[in-house]
Amino acid sequence: MSVRLSVVQFQPILGDKVSNIERLLGYCRTIDSDVIVFPELSTTGYFFQSRQETSSLAEACKGETVTIIQEIASASNKIIVFGYVESDDDKIYNSAAVVFPDYSKTRSYRKTHLFYKERFCFDPGNTGFFVIEDEQKNIRIGTMICYDWRFPEASRTLGLLGADLIVCPSNLVTNIWTKVMPARAIENKVYLAVANRTGLEEANDETVLFNGLSGIWSYNGDNIASAQAAEDCILTAIIEPERTRDKSFNAFNNIFADRRPEMYL
Ligand code: ACM
Repeated sequence: MSVRLSVVQFQPILGDKVSNIERLLGYCRTIDSDVIVFPELSTTGYFFQSRQETSSLAEACKGETVTIIQEIASASNKIIVFGYVESDDDKIYNSAAVVFPDYSKTRSYRKTHLFYKERFCFDPGNTGFFVIEDEQKNIRIGTMICYDWRFPEASRTLGLLGADLIVCPSNLVTNIWTKVMPARAIENKVYLAVANRTGLEEANDETVLFNGLSGIWSYNGDNIASAQAAEDCILTAIIEPERTRDKSFNAFNNIFADRRPEMYL
Protein backbone atom coordinates (compact mmCIF):
# COMPACT_ATOMS: atom_id res chain seq x y z
CA MET A 1 0.00 0.00 0.00
CA SER A 2 1.48 3.33 -0.98
CA VAL A 3 1.33 6.58 0.95
CA ARG A 4 1.59 10.09 -0.48
CA LEU A 5 4.02 12.15 1.61
CA SER A 6 4.56 15.91 1.38
CA VAL A 7 7.11 18.18 3.01
CA VAL A 8 6.50 21.93 3.15
CA GLN A 9 9.41 24.37 3.07
CA PHE A 10 8.58 28.01 3.85
CA GLN A 11 9.58 31.01 5.94
CA PRO A 12 7.56 31.57 9.12
CA ILE A 13 7.47 35.13 10.47
CA LEU A 14 9.07 35.54 13.90
CA GLY A 15 6.43 36.10 16.57
CA ASP A 16 3.50 36.38 14.12
CA LYS A 17 1.49 33.36 15.15
CA VAL A 18 -1.72 34.48 13.46
CA SER A 19 -0.25 34.75 9.98
CA ASN A 20 1.95 31.66 10.36
CA ILE A 21 -1.06 29.56 11.37
CA GLU A 22 -3.13 30.98 8.48
CA ARG A 23 -0.35 29.89 6.14
CA LEU A 24 -0.21 26.41 7.68
CA LEU A 25 -3.98 26.01 7.40
CA GLY A 26 -3.85 27.00 3.72
CA TYR A 27 -1.25 24.31 3.04
CA CYS A 28 -3.17 21.71 5.09
CA ARG A 29 -6.38 22.38 3.18
CA THR A 30 -4.85 22.33 -0.30
CA ILE A 31 -2.15 19.64 -0.18
CA ASP A 32 -3.82 16.37 -1.06
CA SER A 33 -1.43 13.98 0.70
CA ASP A 34 -1.68 11.32 3.39
CA VAL A 35 1.17 12.83 5.42
CA ILE A 36 2.22 16.51 5.51
CA VAL A 37 5.32 17.63 7.41
CA PHE A 38 6.07 21.28 8.30
CA PRO A 39 9.26 22.79 9.80
CA GLU A 40 10.23 23.15 13.46
CA LEU A 41 8.48 26.06 15.25
CA SER A 42 6.50 26.78 12.10
CA THR A 43 3.74 28.64 13.99
CA THR A 44 6.10 31.09 15.70
CA GLY A 45 9.51 31.45 14.04
CA TYR A 46 12.71 30.42 15.76
CA PHE A 47 15.33 32.84 17.05
CA PHE A 48 13.95 33.63 20.51
CA GLN A 49 16.27 34.91 23.22
CA SER A 50 14.29 34.35 26.43
CA ARG A 51 11.56 32.34 28.11
CA GLN A 52 9.40 35.49 28.26
CA GLU A 53 9.28 35.45 24.47
CA THR A 54 8.50 31.75 24.11
CA SER A 55 6.03 31.65 26.99
CA SER A 56 3.98 34.44 25.39
CA LEU A 57 3.50 32.22 22.29
CA ALA A 58 3.15 28.86 24.02
CA GLU A 59 0.04 26.71 24.13
CA ALA A 60 -0.99 23.33 25.49
CA CYS A 61 -0.60 20.22 23.35
CA LYS A 62 -4.29 19.93 22.65
CA GLY A 63 -4.73 23.71 22.59
CA GLU A 64 -6.16 26.01 19.97
CA THR A 65 -3.77 25.32 17.10
CA VAL A 66 -3.76 21.54 17.38
CA THR A 67 -7.56 21.66 17.62
CA ILE A 68 -7.90 23.55 14.32
CA ILE A 69 -5.36 21.31 12.55
CA GLN A 70 -7.09 18.26 14.05
CA GLU A 71 -10.35 19.26 12.36
CA ILE A 72 -8.64 19.24 8.97
CA ALA A 73 -6.72 16.03 9.71
CA SER A 74 -9.87 14.17 10.79
CA ALA A 75 -12.09 15.56 8.02
CA SER A 76 -9.62 14.87 5.22
CA ASN A 77 -7.88 11.78 6.64
CA LYS A 78 -4.41 13.37 6.78
CA ILE A 79 -1.52 13.02 9.18
CA ILE A 80 -0.06 16.49 9.85
CA VAL A 81 3.19 17.20 11.70
CA PHE A 82 4.17 20.77 12.62
CA GLY A 83 6.47 22.50 15.07
CA TYR A 84 5.12 24.84 17.78
CA VAL A 85 5.90 26.18 21.25
CA GLU A 86 4.23 23.94 23.82
CA SER A 87 3.46 24.79 27.44
CA ASP A 88 2.77 22.32 30.20
CA ASP A 89 2.44 23.84 33.70
CA ASP A 90 5.55 26.00 34.07
CA LYS A 91 7.50 24.14 31.37
CA ILE A 92 8.02 25.30 27.79
CA TYR A 93 8.97 22.87 25.06
CA ASN A 94 10.14 23.06 21.47
CA SER A 95 7.58 20.51 20.24
CA ALA A 96 6.19 18.90 17.13
CA ALA A 97 2.49 18.09 17.13
CA VAL A 98 1.89 14.78 15.39
CA VAL A 99 -1.77 15.04 14.43
CA PHE A 100 -3.45 11.84 13.30
CA PRO A 101 -6.95 11.59 11.78
CA ASP A 102 -7.86 9.60 14.90
CA TYR A 103 -7.70 12.22 17.68
CA SER A 104 -6.84 9.61 20.31
CA LYS A 105 -3.47 9.07 18.57
CA THR A 106 -2.50 12.74 18.32
CA ARG A 107 0.38 13.74 20.58
CA SER A 108 3.44 15.95 20.83
CA TYR A 109 7.09 15.06 20.61
CA ARG A 110 9.20 17.43 22.76
CA LYS A 111 12.66 18.09 21.33
CA THR A 112 15.23 16.06 23.24
CA HIS A 113 18.46 17.88 22.34
CA LEU A 114 18.30 21.66 22.60
CA PHE A 115 20.46 23.63 20.16
CA TYR A 116 22.43 26.83 20.89
CA LYS A 117 20.28 29.51 22.63
CA GLU A 118 17.22 27.24 22.84
CA ARG A 119 18.43 26.48 26.38
CA PHE A 120 17.42 30.03 27.37
CA CYS A 121 13.94 29.61 25.93
CA PHE A 122 12.86 25.97 26.37
CA ASP A 123 13.03 23.03 28.74
CA PRO A 124 14.65 19.83 27.46
CA GLY A 125 11.96 17.52 26.09
CA ASN A 126 10.72 14.72 28.33
CA THR A 127 8.58 12.62 25.98
CA GLY A 128 11.42 10.52 24.61
CA PHE A 129 11.06 9.07 21.13
CA PHE A 130 7.91 7.23 20.11
CA VAL A 131 6.21 5.75 17.06
CA ILE A 132 2.53 6.07 16.17
CA GLU A 133 0.78 3.70 13.77
CA ASP A 134 -2.05 4.53 11.41
CA GLU A 135 -3.52 1.09 10.68
CA GLN A 136 -5.72 2.29 7.84
CA LYS A 137 -2.81 3.90 5.97
CA ASN A 138 -0.53 1.08 7.18
CA ILE A 139 2.24 3.44 8.26
CA ARG A 140 4.26 3.85 11.48
CA ILE A 141 5.70 7.30 12.01
CA GLY A 142 8.44 8.42 14.40
CA THR A 143 9.46 12.04 15.02
CA MET A 144 12.69 13.82 15.85
CA ILE A 145 13.37 17.56 15.65
CA CYS A 146 16.29 19.25 13.90
CA TYR A 147 19.43 19.04 16.11
CA ASP A 148 18.32 15.55 17.22
CA TRP A 149 19.85 14.46 13.88
CA ARG A 150 23.34 14.80 15.39
CA PHE A 151 22.53 11.90 17.72
CA PRO A 152 22.28 8.60 15.84
CA GLU A 153 20.55 7.25 18.95
CA ALA A 154 17.45 9.27 18.01
CA SER A 155 16.83 7.66 14.63
CA ARG A 156 18.10 4.28 15.90
CA THR A 157 15.54 4.35 18.72
CA LEU A 158 12.78 5.23 16.26
CA GLY A 159 13.94 2.46 13.93
CA LEU A 160 13.97 -0.09 16.73
CA LEU A 161 10.50 1.06 17.81
CA GLY A 162 9.26 0.12 14.35
CA ALA A 163 9.14 3.41 12.44
CA ASP A 164 8.71 3.10 8.67
CA LEU A 165 9.08 6.85 8.27
CA ILE A 166 11.05 9.28 10.42
CA VAL A 167 9.88 12.87 10.11
CA CYS A 168 12.21 15.67 11.12
CA PRO A 169 10.70 19.17 11.38
CA SER A 170 13.76 21.43 11.28
CA ASN A 171 15.20 24.95 11.39
CA LEU A 172 18.67 23.93 10.20
CA VAL A 173 21.41 26.54 9.94
CA THR A 174 24.14 24.43 8.29
CA ASN A 175 24.00 22.03 5.39
CA ILE A 176 26.23 19.24 6.72
CA TRP A 177 23.12 17.32 7.79
CA THR A 178 22.40 16.55 4.12
CA LYS A 179 25.36 14.13 4.28
CA VAL A 180 24.00 12.34 7.32
CA MET A 181 20.29 11.89 6.58
CA PRO A 182 20.82 9.23 3.87
CA ALA A 183 23.00 7.30 6.34
CA ARG A 184 20.29 7.49 9.03
CA ALA A 185 17.83 6.14 6.44
CA ILE A 186 20.13 3.29 5.35
CA GLU A 187 21.28 2.18 8.80
CA ASN A 188 17.67 1.88 10.03
CA LYS A 189 16.09 1.00 6.67
CA VAL A 190 13.46 3.71 7.02
CA TYR A 191 12.16 6.59 4.93
CA LEU A 192 13.26 9.95 6.27
CA ALA A 193 11.61 13.33 5.61
CA VAL A 194 13.23 16.64 6.63
CA ALA A 195 11.07 19.79 6.48
CA ASN A 196 13.46 22.71 6.87
CA ARG A 197 12.60 26.41 6.76
CA THR A 198 14.14 29.26 4.81
CA GLY A 199 14.95 32.90 5.51
CA LEU A 200 16.82 35.06 8.01
CA GLU A 201 16.05 36.00 11.60
CA GLU A 202 17.90 38.61 13.67
CA ALA A 203 18.16 39.32 17.40
CA ASN A 204 20.76 41.12 19.53
CA ASP A 205 22.93 41.91 16.51
CA GLU A 206 23.07 38.21 15.58
CA THR A 207 21.63 36.84 12.35
CA VAL A 208 20.72 33.24 11.64
CA LEU A 209 20.18 31.96 8.11
CA PHE A 210 18.04 28.88 7.60
CA ASN A 211 19.21 26.73 4.74
CA GLY A 212 16.15 25.09 3.20
CA LEU A 213 17.32 22.04 1.21
CA SER A 214 14.42 20.01 2.61
CA GLY A 215 14.37 16.46 1.37
CA ILE A 216 12.86 13.00 1.38
CA TRP A 217 15.16 9.96 1.45
CA SER A 218 14.21 6.39 0.70
CA TYR A 219 15.18 3.47 2.95
CA ASN A 220 18.14 2.74 0.64
CA GLY A 221 19.47 6.30 1.08
CA ASP A 222 18.28 7.59 -2.30
CA ASN A 223 17.10 11.16 -2.31
CA ILE A 224 13.61 11.03 -3.82
CA ALA A 225 12.64 14.71 -3.46
CA SER A 226 14.70 17.79 -2.70
CA ALA A 227 14.27 21.54 -2.38
CA GLN A 228 16.59 24.45 -3.16
CA ALA A 229 18.10 26.50 -0.33
CA ALA A 230 15.88 29.57 -0.52
CA GLU A 231 12.59 28.62 -2.20
CA ASP A 232 9.17 28.12 -0.70
CA CYS A 233 8.03 24.76 -1.98
CA ILE A 234 6.10 21.55 -1.46
CA LEU A 235 7.96 18.28 -2.02
CA THR A 236 5.93 15.16 -2.65
CA ALA A 237 6.90 11.49 -2.91
CA ILE A 238 5.00 8.22 -2.98
CA ILE A 239 6.39 5.84 -0.37
CA GLU A 240 5.72 2.19 0.45
CA PRO A 241 6.02 1.81 4.23
CA GLU A 242 5.81 -2.00 4.24
CA ARG A 243 9.07 -2.20 2.30
CA THR A 244 11.01 -0.97 5.33
CA ARG A 245 9.93 -3.79 7.61
CA ASP A 246 12.16 -6.65 6.53
CA LYS A 247 15.59 -5.57 7.79
CA SER A 248 17.42 -8.44 6.02
CA PHE A 249 19.69 -7.57 3.12
CA ASN A 250 20.86 -11.09 2.22
CA ALA A 251 20.07 -14.63 3.32
CA PHE A 252 22.22 -14.32 6.46
CA ASN A 253 22.22 -10.67 7.56
CA ASN A 254 19.57 -8.53 9.15
CA ILE A 255 20.59 -5.08 10.38
CA PHE A 256 18.53 -5.30 13.55
CA ALA A 257 18.89 -9.02 14.35
CA ASP A 258 22.69 -8.74 13.86
CA ARG A 259 23.07 -5.98 16.45
CA ARG A 260 25.30 -6.75 19.48
CA PRO A 261 24.18 -4.17 22.04
CA GLU A 262 26.28 -5.82 24.74
CA MET A 263 29.35 -4.68 22.77
CA TYR A 264 28.34 -1.00 22.56
CA LEU A 265 28.25 1.96 24.93
C1 ACM B 1 18.25 23.40 15.37
O1 ACM B 1 18.14 22.44 16.15
N1 ACM B 1 17.23 24.21 15.17
C2 ACM B 1 19.48 23.63 14.62
